[in-house]
Amino acid sequence: MTDVLVFGADSLVGSHYAATATRAITAAGRVDPRTVGLRVAGFRPVELDPTENVERMIREAPEPVVVNFAASTDVDAVERQRPAASDPPEVSPAFRVNALAPEAMARATHASGKQLITLSTDFVFDGIHGPYREDAHPGSVSAAISWYGWTKAEGERRVRAADPSAAIVRVAYPYRARFSGKLDFARRLVAHRRSGTLPPLFTDQTITPTWIPDVSRAIDHLIDRRASGTFHAASPEATTPHAFALELFTQLEGTPPKLAEGSVADFLRRPGAIPRPQHGGLIGDRLATQGVALTSWVDGIQAFLREGGGT
Ligand SMILES: NC(=O)c1ccc[n+]([C@@H]2O[C@H](COP(=O)([O-])OP(=O)(O)OC[C@H]3O[C@@H](n4cnc5c(N)ncnc54)[C@H](OP(=O)(O)O)[C@@H]3O)[C@@H](O)[C@H]2O)c1
Repeated sequence: MTDVLVFGADSLVGSHYAATATRAITAAGRVDPRTVGLRVAGFRPVELDPTENVERMIREAPEPVVVNFAASTDVDAVERQRPAASDPPEVSPAFRVNALAPEAMARATHASGKQLITLSTDFVFDGIHGPYREDAHPGSVSAAISWYGWTKAEGERRVRAADPSAAIVRVAYPYRARFSGKLDFARRLVAHRRSGTLPPLFTDQTITPTWIPDVSRAIDHLIDRRASGTFHAASPEATTPHAFALELFTQLEGTPPKLAEGSVADFLRRPGAIPRPQHGGLIGDRLATQGVALTSWVDGIQAFLREGGGT
């Protein structure tokens, strides 16, 4: 079995991979994931910003495969780092973590003949014509996508240029039944419903939520195939936040609740609103044709509840 060096092993998505992988995982990052109960074979401390140590670590690592889940993912916090037009993007720490660090990883894997798989997002798209296939072009107008999406798109571009044999796995609104580190799309809905703070849910936004165990299976498959290029791991059927929540609470409570409806189009028209894809989502043709089954959002909700996500 191939040993794997994992950046972001304590992340929402990455900790599922680290916890379920059949391969020996060595975590690299700021926090030893064993301190939060994850069983990994080893830990190497590293800060992604600045990137010099990342590159050296990968070149010297014995593991032939590197999987990168690490990123600055707080869309609101990252937006506050959007540089002025007169400033270079490097002034933004999120740009350094989301674009320069993956590029450094790709330089190192290319130079040392290792395999790189790095995670990305449907937020690279402007959300005008989604759901998007793997070969669709990310948004090209910076103001039309979030600064988070822009930094991730730039990371993708730099990874492809530095290591053409790298694989990029995009996910969208990832969710899982349990994770103590932070809420996700589905567990946030449950938490808001519990506390009576559920906001109006968008009926005019297209999303394809990712059942996180699919990502772990997809990554194992890509390692086995030593695959290159871009892959989408997301629900094969699109939905809206309102329809997803309605199905979730109908399955959880036994009867369809009345949920307040909202409009992402109205939301995006508000002054200062952070751009996000209205007609977003991902079409995972490449994984599906290679035999990696992706979980539909309705089946994902069933699995989520079966695994205790509603408790
Ligand atoms: N969550 C979503 O809604 C979503 C949606 C689409 C795509 N994605 C993508 O999926 C991947 C995983 O996202 P996630 O939500 O699972 O991540 P997450 O839970 O927010 O965790 C982020 C990870 O990045 C690490 N990290 C951040 N800055 C770092 C730095 N300067 N040096 C070292 N490590 C650093 C964090 O380490 P510490 O623990 O030390 O902070 C943590 O392990 C990312 O590529 C993300 O863009 C996420």
